[in-house]
Amino acid sequence: MSVAVIIVAAGSGSRLGADLPKALVEIGGRTLLEHSLRTALEVSGLVQVVVVAPATHLEAVIELIDGIRTSSAVHVVAGGADRTASVAAGLAALDDGLGDELDDADAQGDLAEPQVVLVHDAARCFTPLDVYERVVDAVRDGWVAVVPGLPVVDTVKVVDERGVVRSTPPREQLRAVQTPQGFVRDELEAAHASGVSATDDAALLEALGHHVLVVEGDPLSFKVTTPADLDRAHRHTASLST
Ligand code: C5P
Repeated sequence: MSVAVIIVAAGSGSRLGADLPKALVEIGGRTLLEHSLRTALEVSGLVQVVVVAPATHLEAVIELIDGIRTSSAVHVVAGGADRTASVAAGLAALDDGLGDELDDADAQGDLAEPQVVLVHDAARCFTPLDVYERVVDAVRDGWVAVVPGLPVVDTVKVVDERGVVRSTPPREQLRAVQTPQGFVRDELEAAHASGVSATDDAALLEALGHHVLVVEGDPLSFKVTTPADLDRAHRHTASLST
């Protein structure tokens, strides 16, 4: 089963307080997007990457990608108003530019339109390749939707609009989920056709009654969201170079 990765990088990064979109902030001499893209390009069975970029910075992102050597098709499209809309824009661009490869595939029988789609947050720029591979393997094993996750360390409360606690889910049943989230392409497209928004894609499939498998995530897959996360990311790259 061939794989496409959609990297969503169109967020403004307002919580980071940077004067650039978050994906274009540099850590260790590379943008967050570039860190994510370089790992995504290593995924086995990859035929295409779609980068969903801020509409205001399309040229900068295209230039950045031109500097990366790869045999996979990499496309850049503009994102939407929220994360769900950005993923939908990425889905709409699947297969773009695969024409040549598909002609070859007809001859060779080994490349095809992607059947597995991974959706990854550019902001999780240090996600190790083995997390991607765990997710892809589980989809290949027959799961429609697969997310990486870790047990939570805090007790989590459900509150109402006044902040009053309504319930306390048992902690051992909770997982903090990450990306890349992997899906059978047709089912992900059907879930997005519902027009509903959610903070992750798995929620859209859950709403349709699909079972979503959680595989082991990785602490390095933290999302760069706040200035404290950015400090952590800088410390991580510094530790690699010492
Ligand atoms: O806002 P949040 O931290 O949930 O964003 C997760 C990922 O979704 C980030 O990589 C961000 O760039 C992306 N995103 C997007 N389009 C938006 C909002 C967020 O591509 N409109």
